[in-house]
Parts: sequence; structure tokens; C-alpha cells
Amino acid sequence: MNHTHTHLTRLAVLISGNGSNLQTILDACAARILPARVVLVVSNKTDAYGLERASHSGVPAVVKTKSKDQDRTTYDRELADLVGAYRPDWIVLAGWMRILSPAFLNAFPGQVINLHPALPGTFPGTNAIERSLHAFQLGEIQHTGVMVHLVPDEGVDNGPVLGQEIVPIYREDTRETLENRVHQVEHRLLVETLSNVIQKPLLMTRSEK
Ligand code: GRF
Repeated sequence: MNHTHTHLTRLAVLISGNGSNLQTILDACAARILPARVVLVVSNKTDAYGLERASHSGVPAVVKTKSKDQDRTTYDRELADLVGAYRPDWIVLAGWMRILSPAFLNAFPGQVINLHPALPGTFPGTNAIERSLHAFQLGEIQHTGVMVHLVPDEGVDNGPVLGQEIVPIYREDTRETLENRVHQVEHRLLVETLSNVIQKPLLMTRSEK
């Protein structure tokens, strides 16, 4: 009997840009570090390099842009139908720069995971790395970090935390040097956290619903 893909956890990855975190997931799946396979990549941006990374790996890569006059709920419902058709076990937001509404989230209760380049409760939203460097230079913080969390609702970067790690900031840091250090930690923490979640399913999360 052909066992390939039989028990592999199905991941849908949503991106908006370069896709270095997507690449890390693809590589970890290919190397069997993650007992999973990426069944779909969706981008809300047509020029996202992550789409090419998906195609290189033979993964379906779909662009789903939102026109200005389309309402958010309709867009999110269409997105949920698109993603649902690939029957993912988990939806990973890896640099997806849109806030998802209940029209999407309710279709995948307890299944949506986000990556954010800051520690829980700090620098929610965009440009978190730049803002953390600025706060460090003002002496307001000593370090920053990375977190991986569930996305139960429309809260921005603040769902139940699945993994987090501190990232040091140095006096001589520029935005670029700090960004590189944050990305390195993201790539490792994201795979570690997904591996934990896949191997110790958060069944309790879903059953509590
Ligand atoms: C990451 O820093 C992620 O935490 C943030 O957007 C960035 C995406 O990077 N939300 P990439 O596209 O995976 O390289």
C-alpha cells in the first residue's frame, strides 16, 4: 500500500511577501523534520516572491487579491472557500499582512497560527522590528523577540501563545542587522512550534469549542 502523504499533516500557508518563513517550512517538510506537507500557498499580493518559492516546490500557489470596492467579509468568505477546498489541518500565517475576520476564522476554529516578530503584548501590527529597534535606542526595552500564536479572533498579534523566544538587540544594530537576527530566530521557532503542534495536537483547543 502506498503510504506517501497518508498521515502527513496538511498545511496551508498564507503569505504577502518574500516568503523566507514559507521556505523554511517547505524545506523542513522536504527534509522530514516536519511530518507535514504544504498543500497550498495563498498570497494577497501578485508580486510576492513566496509564490515562486511555492512553484519551485511544486505546491499550488494562488493569488487572491482584494479589490478596493470588495467588502472584507466577502473577501474573507471567498478566501475561506479557496483554502477549505485543500482541506488543511492548519493554516499558517507566515508574513500574511491582512487581519482575518470571523468570516474566515470561524471556518477554521483553532486551526489558524500566526508568526509575529515581537514578544507577546509588544509592538502589535506592522513594522514591529523597526519599532522595537527605535524603542531600544530610546532605552525603553532591553531586547525584542518572536512569537508564534493561535488566531482565534480579530485581535492583532495577540492570540494564545504557542512559542516565543527573546532576540537580543545590540547598540551597534541597524534595522537590517536586527531584521536578519529576528528572521533567523523566526525560522527556527516556527518549525519547532509547528512540529510541537503537529505532534502534540491541541485537541483540547478544538474540543473546548
Ligand atoms: C516576518 O518577519 C513575519 O513575522 C512578519 O512578516 C515577515 C515575513 O517575512 N509578519 P517572510 O516573507 O517570511 O520572509
